[in-house]
Amino acid sequence: MSASRVRLRAEVENSVPYRQGKPAAADAFKLSSNENPYEPLPAVIAAIAESPINRYPDGAATKLRERLAERWGVTVGEVQVGAGSVSVLSQLISATSGPGDEIVYAWRSFEAYPGLVAVAGATSVQVPNTADHRHDLPALAAAITERTRLAIVCSPNNPTGTAVTKAEFAAFMAAVPTSVLVVLDEAYAEFVTDAEAVDGTELVHQYPNLVILRTFSKAYGLAGLRVGYAIGPEYVMDAARVTAIPLSVIDQAQRAAIVSLDNEAQLLERVARLSQLRDEVWRALQAQGWDAPRPHGNFIWLPTGDLTDWAGETLTGHGIVSRALGEGLRVSIGEEASVEKLLKAAQEVVSELRTRPSTATLD
Ligand SMILES: Cc1ncc(COP(=O)(O)O)c(C=O)c1O
Repeated sequence: MSASRVRLRAEVENSVPYRQGKPAAADAFKLSSNENPYEPLPAVIAAIAESPINRYPDGAATKLRERLAERWGVTVGEVQVGAGSVSVLSQLISATSGPGDEIVYAWRSFEAYPGLVAVAGATSVQVPNTADHRHDLPALAAAITERTRLAIVCSPNNPTGTAVTKAEFAAFMAAVPTSVLVVLDEAYAEFVTDAEAVDGTELVHQYPNLVILRTFSKAYGLAGLRVGYAIGPEYVMDAARVTAIPLSVIDQAQRAAIVSLDNEAQLLERVARLSQLRDEVWRALQAQGWDAPRPHGNFIWLPTGDLTDWAGETLTGHGIVSRALGEGLRVSIGEEASVEKLLKAAQEVVSELRTRPSTATLD
């Protein structure tokens, strides 16, 4: 190594920064980051305008935590707020895991997991999803060893959109030692319409080792302000508070989240419309011959196999920016006006996939 270089941690040098969904050209739809297409509520804009920018925010996010505690029937101590739920996940990873420790999660899942684990110096144990793109929870439980400190379950799973059922989750929790923290990442929970799907808010207080993660980024449309939260045992939330970067949840985000809770019914109506549109798009894709798993979040997974890059470029050519992730494309449900373009592009891709030898899965 050259003497003019400072010494960096090997796990950091060997990692790449988080890769974001691509931006879109002016005439294209950005369906690459699972964002909410709706404009912020006027009440949110008004609340942000009142924020005193020369002052630090309340580092404990007290008012927001009080509102969330009231909303979910838990104590304020059982709520932790972070600059996005990904920040809270990072805090929980730092609080539980370091060099020599293992973190178990399904793969393919949220792109940020491997990097967060690597930065903590811990080891990722990735358990492949089933052939139908669902978490393999018995295999996830079987991958837990005495080195495991944390298990992440993502439902609905980003990017495949599949949901874990209540029964699958109960069996998983019964198999996991209570010394291992289970994080149920429910960033897309509000888009779920299947009554069989797990709902972490029903399980708070039921397991001593469960933390659920929720966010204001998706259903509540506040992705740009960065605010998410966890609910779990108070001593675990206290540990997350120790590892948090102080004062990173800005006042505007705290105010906007509170106003969003004040106007939750209106925001959840938007979510219901997006979920309905998602189901319509999914049915249209099935009719085209796609073997896309039933989506439960605000996005759809197109299993394009080794032709993923080409398929992504074809969508871009139609004005649809999607997210290419290894063996498939993830497309967010966005503006209604994007649907026609998306379906036209998807038809072109599926017709071509039929004629080419590939690992794409079609009906
Ligand atoms: C599964 C999952 N968890 C967490 C996040 C992070 O969301 P945020 O940090 O904006 O709350 C995302 C964002 O895409 C996600 O897909």
